[in-house]
Amino acid sequence: MNRDLISAGDLTRDDALLILDTAEELARVSERSIKKLPTLRGRTVVNLFFEDSTRTRISFEAAAKRLSADVINFSAKGSSVSKGESLKDTALTLEAMGADAVVIRHAASGAPHRLATWVHGSVVNAGDGTHEHPTQALLDAFSMRRRLGGLDGRKIAIVGDVLHSRVARSNVLLLHTLGAEVTLVAPPTLLPVAVDIWPCAVSYDLDAVLPKSDAVMMLRVQKERMNASYFPSEREYSRRYGLDRDRFAKMPDDAIVMHPGPMNRGMEIAAEVADSPRSTIVEQVANGVTIRMAVLYLLLGGDTA
Ligand code: CP
Repeated sequence: MNRDLISAGDLTRDDALLILDTAEELARVSERSIKKLPTLRGRTVVNLFFEDSTRTRISFEAAAKRLSADVINFSAKGSSVSKGESLKDTALTLEAMGADAVVIRHAASGAPHRLATWVHGSVVNAGDGTHEHPTQALLDAFSMRRRLGGLDGRKIAIVGDVLHSRVARSNVLLLHTLGAEVTLVAPPTLLPVAVDIWPCAVSYDLDAVLPKSDAVMMLRVQKERMNASYFPSEREYSRRYGLDRDRFAKMPDDAIVMHPGPMNRGMEIAAEVADSPRSTIVEQVANGVTIRMAVLYLLLGGDTA
């Protein structure tokens, strides 16, 4: 594995399987009464969050603590960033405090890549702009593998606001590496310009794709990143691309529903679908801790689980 985890596209099939298999081993440890491992004792993990997060920030903190690492949580709000301190100076300050790994979320696509050129420790991308969110893709693949029994040849639909989604890009890259067949479903206005070179199919017709899907991943409509009108109205978007009860009924009986969260309930996904036993949304959050333990463990150099 590389020293850093910046893009899901940097992972070979062997790298990805190593992370998923390590996470399976660590999940077994998490079922014990004493969940903590001494593996990263004496190591320091810095969580550097310039954008809001609930799931990713908390699960990286929980993962590092379960491996006995020291954790420093940095939030841009309330820091010297508000006085104009640059990303580079912030990173060098944290490195001077002994960071072995820096987990970064930033609004700018490419910020983790730049950071990796300035610090000596491992850099983990926890979401950069509209670019990538590789640990989300890993936890999604882990959740799918557990529910579906494998990913080779599985048909996965990723539906909604692909244009603004770092989750979609990372999932397409990773799922392709793992042998799944991905179809993106979105209105033309919510697809990136170069989507034709992504290793996946594209459809505008959700009703045609649903009956052929083993897993359907709904994406949040990212209103905060929209500076123009991408669809006529929320009601119209929901009517064409929302997963409601009637559409859910068109999916195969054993197909699963996913969402990276946070959700716009009632817009891209109906509450009764999100809360159904075939939804993995809560499992995805729990699996996030396990996957992030595996990533920190492998990057910071443990030999055995
Ligand atoms: N899925 C995800 O990245 O959620 P958060 O923004 O809450 O971290």
